[in-house]
Amino acid sequence: MIVDGLTQMNKNAATVLAELRTDHKNMALMINLLERESNRIYEGGEPDYELLGDVMHYMTVYPDAVHHPKEDMLYAELKAARPDLSVGFERITMDHRHIAELSVKLRNDIAAINAGNAISRNAVVADALRYVNTLRGHMQWEELDLFRRVDEMIREGHVSFDTANFIRQSDPVFGPEIEHSFGRLVSSIREIAASH
Ligand SMILES: [Fe+2]
Ligand SMILES: [Fe+2]
Repeated sequence: MIVDGLTQMNKNAATVLAELRTDHKNMALMINLLERESNRIYEGGEPDYELLGDVMHYMTVYPDAVHHPKEDMLYAELKAARPDLSVGFERITMDHRHIAELSVKLRNDIAAINAGNAISRNAVVADALRYVNTLRGHMQWEELDLFRRVDEMIREGHVSFDTANFIRQSDPVFGPEIEHSFGRLVSSIREIAASH
């Protein structure tokens, strides 16, 4: 029975890791969009501020509220079960807090513009690029290090912690059910995908 339990723990961890990787692909898509629109602002053009608002709404309700807490839980389990494998990951929760602060700042900038307030274009571009670069670097670090360490444990069948009770909230944009308020964002993503 212990062997079965271990097998299940390995399977659960593999599921969580697959979910995290899917989230990263979707987040990469969102940050590419942000980068494109902020370049448009930088060049003096008119970006799609409504689209930017929708993207930042998504980033605060899914990546910041579900994806990052799930990774924090993974790190905590890894640290408890295999402190040797968790070395070098101490900054992960702080990174997540920092990213959440940057995303709220950018979301507020865009909300202010959409509300008709005057905001300097340079400030929006700077906040957007800071957010894009920070999140991109963070995701790459996780993919090349944290995820690989857990991969290795799964491959060897050595996952000794259970991820069965991890936060499991489905993605309101890329998940099985699209949340009503994200309808416009989903249409934009489909249009962009179709034009490539
Ligand atoms: Fe993360
Ligand atoms: Fe992540």
